[in-house]
Amino acid sequence: MRRRDGSCGTRNAVAGVCDAAASCDDGGKAAIMPADAEGEKDSRYEAAQKLISFGELTPKNVEQLRKLNLAVFPVKYSDKFYTDLSSNPVQLYTHLAYFTDIMVGAICCRVESQDGAAFKVYIMTIGVLAPYRRLGIGKQLLQKVLEACSLQPDCVEIYLHVQVGNDSAVDFYKGFGFEVGSIVKDYYTRLDVNDAHIISKRPPFLSTS
Ligand code: ACO
Repeated sequence: MRRRDGSCGTRNAVAGVCDAAASCDDGGKAAIMPADAEGEKDSRYEAAQKLISFGELTPKNVEQLRKLNLAVFPVKYSDKFYTDLSSNPVQLYTHLAYFTDIMVGAICCRVESQDGAAFKVYIMTIGVLAPYRRLGIGKQLLQKVLEACSLQPDCVEIYLHVQVGNDSAVDFYKGFGFEVGSIVKDYYTRLDVNDAHIISKRPPFLSTS
């Protein structure tokens, strides 16, 4: 169960984290701290920043990531997804976010080779548990990947699929200068809406336009 302060107790309280996500479907407006007025929202945001930290994926914490993704996404990812991610020696494009000591968000990417040395970075998932949204956690996770891409001259694009109708995710990416491209029909197979937008960004990765 989620505590009054929005936390679930210890770092190992993964079930509690998932309870918090399942019991809060208000898009993150629930009170980790009160947010009645604009000024209070700002102070809530500022106070939260001191409690947010980031970490790397390892074989030891990969089970927490699996539980986080199960709580956030309608799609269940395979064992191979998690094994490949956690055993990858290069962790430039996968990051975990913690609120106090609870894993509350993650971005997971893969590298796709192109001709020669060129490569694209594909964002497989980015998710933040609902009670912890609109605190800048998603922004900081994506920023870490964009910074890593910007340091790689051979990185030619970063891209992803978003389910049609997921307007908050589209708005989130637009804020970083991503372009919304074509729709892939039936990209997903088991959802209510199976079509997906392709959303992409080419260098310079750190510009917002
Ligand atoms: N509506 C409109 N704009 C939004 C929203 C929203 N619901 N959420 C974020 N934004 C925009 C805003 O401009 C926001 O800045 P502001 O709060 O100052 O206005 C900016 O994005 C940054 O927001 P963050 O607080 O950093 O984002 P958050 O930590 O809430 O994470 C995320 C955003 C990851 C999209 C989160 O809403 C989430 O986990 N959603 C569910 C999972 C999901 O849909 N993931 C993306 C699917 S695509 C994929 O995974 C490849």
